[in-house]
Amino acid sequence: MQYFTYQNQELSCEQVPLKEIAQKLGTPAYVYSYAALKHQFTSFTQAFSGIDHLICFSMKANSNAAILKTFINLGSGIDVVTGGELYRALKAGCPANKIVFSGVGKSDSEIEMALNAGILQFNVESIDELSAIQNVAARLNKKAPIALRVNPDVDPKTHAYISTGLKKSKFGISHEKTVDTYKKARDMANIEIVGIDCHIGSQLTTTAPFVEALGKVKNLINALKAEGITVRHLDFGGGLGITYNNETPPSPADYAAALKGIMTELGLKLIFEPGRFLVGNTGVLLTKVLYNKGRDNKKFVIVDAASNDLMRPAMYDAYHDIKPLSQKTGETQVVDVVGPICETGDFFAHDRALPALSNGEYAAIMSAGAYGFSMSSTYNSRPRAVEVMVNGKDYEIVRERETLEDLVKGEKIPSFLK
Ligand code: LLP
Repeated sequence: MQYFTYQNQELSCEQVPLKEIAQKLGTPAYVYSYAALKHQFTSFTQAFSGIDHLICFSMKANSNAAILKTFINLGSGIDVVTGGELYRALKAGCPANKIVFSGVGKSDSEIEMALNAGILQFNVESIDELSAIQNVAARLNKKAPIALRVNPDVDPKTHAYISTGLKKSKFGISHEKTVDTYKKARDMANIEIVGIDCHIGSQLTTTAPFVEALGKVKNLINALKAEGITVRHLDFGGGLGITYNNETPPSPADYAAALKGIMTELGLKLIFEPGRFLVGNTGVLLTKVLYNKGRDNKKFVIVDAASNDLMRPAMYDAYHDIKPLSQKTGETQVVDVVGPICETGDFFAHDRALPALSNGEYAAIMSAGAYGFSMSSTYNSRPRAVEVMVNGKDYEIVRERETLEDLVKGEKIPSFLK
């Protein structure tokens, strides 16, 4: 299903020409398709129909309240990694008992907040963290539901910065220490063991690493059983990749087919934490061409979006397709598409063949729904972009463009400078 298509030569989101949004609300602007969001969620959940499962949208990929609400209305839970995310998830109306709390470094106040809210489970990444949760739970006279995050030492074959299940990475409890750590958890009065958790990385484009990790987790579940420790939930994390360029990631149906056998055999409630899959290709970043310039044999197209708005190219050398909003035929030229920020890393494309884009023309940076706005900053004092959601022929702002006043909000001149 395509939600961003040319209709009458104008790139449209559902039935709204994106130029209309760009002209009315200005650029840079993030635009999300409500229909695409629903489609992604439904395809994932349908792939696991017949198995008790809960999708907990990994909101670090996109934490806009309208996106959260879209998934919550479809029955989704949420995977949070900070008190800030927990606050936003609850505020968007997510039932606390559908929230899992992941992350390597939860603070006491975050643990307290989650215990008071009554979340489904903490995914715990170290013995120290387990002790911290025990202490806070004891103080509050509560029992903390926990799963231990296992590091299965599997190579997800993705970008090094987003590989998390290798031994050398900071994530999880090493495979060999898992059973021992569970035994310690069992002896803690305010800890209730409810599950086991594993997330091996992001943007995986084959099923093999998932299958390998699941096999290791299965062995651990059996080893735990032998010690009289049972778990009810298997949280298998996120990681399913999407197409940015010419990747051919497994569909949710392929993913489910590869895992369903072992998962059914285990008979546990499954939790998934997809982020990118649910939102990546449901959003684009609209930008306007400011200037064209050439030097030697290099051509630059300078646009009004920058790496503060979408930092994936700068951070991971990530590929994002770029499409003119008004469809073009004819010759392409090889250009660098760059933003106005004072950093060499401020680019969207290097040596990309694109149709000529004149000053004032608009383009869409595709596949920007995941880790786009949520990773944006105000570097170079650039107010953050407006966010818009399209539904059929209509669209609404789901987050206002930041103002200049927003940039200085909270800043104070110390008395000795007055
Ligand atoms: N669960 C845990 C524990 C995670 O750490 C992550 C992502 C997810 C779920 C969701 O993974 P996904 O389904 O989106 O692959 N900023 C990077 C991606 C960082 C991923 C961090 N963890 C990027 O722009 O590619």
